[in-house]
Amino acid sequence: MTTALITGSTAGIGAAFARRLAGDGHNLVLVARDTKRLREQATELHDRHGIEAEVLTADLSTDGGIEAVEKRLARRRDPVDLLVNNAGFGNKGRYLEVPVADELTMLKVHCEAVLRLTSAATETMRERGRGGVVNVASVAAFLPRGTYGASKAWVVQFTQGAAKDLAGSGVRLMALCPGFVRTEFHERAGMGTDNIPKWMWLDPDKVVAAALADLARGRTLSIPDPRYKALMGVAKLAPRPLLSGVTSRTGRKYGPQ
Ligand SMILES: NC(=O)c1ccc[n+]([C@@H]2O[C@H](COP(=O)([O-])OP(=O)(O)OC[C@H]3O[C@@H](n4cnc5c(N)ncnc54)[C@H](OP(=O)(O)O)[C@@H]3O)[C@@H](O)[C@H]2O)c1
Repeated sequence: MTTALITGSTAGIGAAFARRLAGDGHNLVLVARDTKRLREQATELHDRHGIEAEVLTADLSTDGGIEAVEKRLARRRDPVDLLVNNAGFGNKGRYLEVPVADELTMLKVHCEAVLRLTSAATETMRERGRGGVVNVASVAAFLPRGTYGASKAWVVQFTQGAAKDLAGSGVRLMALCPGFVRTEFHERAGMGTDNIPKWMWLDPDKVVAAALADLARGRTLSIPDPRYKALMGVAKLAPRPLLSGVTSRTGRKYGPQ
């Protein structure tokens, strides 16, 4: 039996990964800050799918939290075969409206934690000659959208670079770039979503199914929906000033996270 560790497993995209991987028979290590919610999730997945679900409470905006997860990933006995770096959040507001301390917290969770956990996991995966890492970024990685977009652009560049460096080692890495997904994300950030057209919303279970299919195909980048693939194709061709005009208006209250 293989084991998957998912950060931010208790809600949204992370919870969809947990459901799908448990259904496929993987044991799980569930990581988030809310212990009660983690325990309830572990019990439910164990009862429904007969898998073992370990709870690891960790705040990935702190060194202690990151260290606790690094230690679990470095364990050679009972190793982790698939790491999903998914924990993340949004800050409402444009540049200079968001306190610098909150931007730094975002960089810690979206970049430092992803770097350190990917490194801890791939070190042991490389020794075993197999393993996978999914780093959850966003289509915002391809748009000029403040610290959020910049942090997700880092995730994409870092993941694809590491995938190339580890090619042939048996370890696969993939950046996952969804558009708007129905989760707790926008509500937690206090962002309104009324102006987002219905067709732009993705279902988290479908995002996860597309992501795991792309990982199995050996892709290093997954944009899990044809509509967003087309939109990102157009965005690549659009003049930068036009693009930043649109994303700076839509980015902070309503834009794709
Ligand atoms: N929803 C979207 O439209 C969308 C689009 C593209 C990309 N994404 C990305 O997808 C990922 C998941 O987002 P989501 O939409 O599923 O969000 P969500 O529904 O708000 O879930 C976030 C999860 O992350 C955990 N978390 C948050 N901060 C954490 C921290 N400091 N340490 C450990 N765990 C933490 C939360 O649990 P606790 O609060 O208990 O810690 C929760 O389990 C994020 O990286 C986000 O940037 C989202």
